[in-house]
Amino acid sequence: VNATGTAQADVLIDGETIAAVLAPGSTLLGFDLASNVDQVVDATGKYVIPGGIDAHTHMQMPFGGTEASDTFETGTRAAAHGGTTSIIDFVVQYAGENILEQYNLWQEKAAGQCAVDYGFHQILSDVQDSSLTAMDELINEGVTSFKLFMAYKGVFLSDDGQIVKAMQKGAENGALMMMHAENGSVIDLLVQQHIERGETSPFYHGTSRPWQAEEEATHRAIMLANLTGAPLYIVHVSAKQAVEQIAAARDNGQNVFAETCPQYLYLSLEDQLGASSEEWGDFEGAKWVCSTPLRSKHEGHQGHMWQGLRTNDLQVISTDHCPFCMKGQKDMGIGNFSKIPNGIGSVEHRMDLIYQGVVMGEISLPRWVELTSTTPARMFGIHGKKGVIQPGADGDVVIYDPNGHTSIGVDKTHHMNMDYSAWEGFEIDGHVDTVFSRGRKIVDDNSYLGKKGDGAYFKRGLSQYLI
Ligand code: URP
Ligand code: ZN
Ligand code: ZN
Repeated sequence: VNATGTAQADVLIDGETIAAVLAPGSTLLGFDLASNVDQVVDATGKYVIPGGIDAHTHMQMPFGGTEASDTFETGTRAAAHGGTTSIIDFVVQYAGENILEQYNLWQEKAAGQCAVDYGFHQILSDVQDSSLTAMDELINEGVTSFKLFMAYKGVFLSDDGQIVKAMQKGAENGALMMMHAENGSVIDLLVQQHIERGETSPFYHGTSRPWQAEEEATHRAIMLANLTGAPLYIVHVSAKQAVEQIAAARDNGQNVFAETCPQYLYLSLEDQLGASSEEWGDFEGAKWVCSTPLRSKHEGHQGHMWQGLRTNDLQVISTDHCPFCMKGQKDMGIGNFSKIPNGIGSVEHRMDLIYQGVVMGEISLPRWVELTSTTPARMFGIHGKKGVIQPGADGDVVIYDPNGHTSIGVDKTHHMNMDYSAWEGFEIDGHVDTVFSRGRKIVDDNSYLGKKGDGAYFKRGLSQYLI
């Protein structure tokens, strides 16, 4: 299965690369394949897909007074189990830090640790003049996309002038500008008002970040990109009104792209409000505190995300994998939801959760591959090596069994370093059987055969969506 369609085929992997894709039973230079290769893997009745590419993860990210609980080692191993063979993580710059130093630091963190291949985006918080020249240097290092924030004052937020400055640079050097589009001042005020009224439970995380704050910031980001000519990619979209802004900009001919995440397809604010347990009471809802937040199902956002994925108003599905444990991390926000570290862990389940969209009839089989692998590869400049099953591509190949089954839960299918699962109880009509990363079999029938350090850094080119 490629993004372009499906066919019955034999896939020949030689060393780290795909050497040929042949009609079943073909001979190569007169040799019968099956009896002349070291190993034959029978995938009859199963889908052979390019390995998943999760273009939005935060392994061991220092954030919210703690650090995301998956290391590069545990997070990429979990990714491998779930059929994801590439991640693009974020180098973090907090205000005052030097982005080249931060980039080197992140390279050190990941070196020798990863189970699958990895690349980096760079977060820009305060847009220093020195960062602008450093952006050119980072592009030479294969970091060709930069994330800006319209929320998180004092942590990441850039003001509109700083955003324009960075976008002008992106327009000049071709970097893709990524945006966390939520109106931070509005959110900060609503948070403060909730807390003053004694409304402190996790549910109010969602009501303090209403769709209007996402729509407004999405529109503003689009206009600033329009002003500067920079290509724009909106991350973790959850509001249907934000999708409408993105669709309108695309119809207008602007280079605007966007991703959504599994949580915005399957989970709602009402799920969070209704969540309660003996252990945590209504603080149970902290498990799903992420930004942008889960949205009300009565407003139809979830269905609109599926629609946008079908019609290409949304082009990519990433996880925004940013896991925190309940004990010792999320529980910092008991009595004040704004102190709950923001993030959900899903890197292991993205391929399964979106395959379930095929089962439900929301998207087609090739579209599943396109959203989770091929388009992320093209969007972030690694297509050809990644995101496709064709001669010359890396041997990143997943055998997916549509007749298999996956039960998700912290005591079931779970390799992420978390003390709970945001996806507890989800049942998937499909299963990741075998995973190859650059030709090596790293997962076979739920067992991990790889080792840390198998994964290598990939330098990315400019987005292949831009001329
Ligand atoms: O809740 C989230 N999304 N945490 C990760 C940081 C970000 O904004 O992507
Ligand atoms: Zn964000
Ligand atoms: Zn993120």
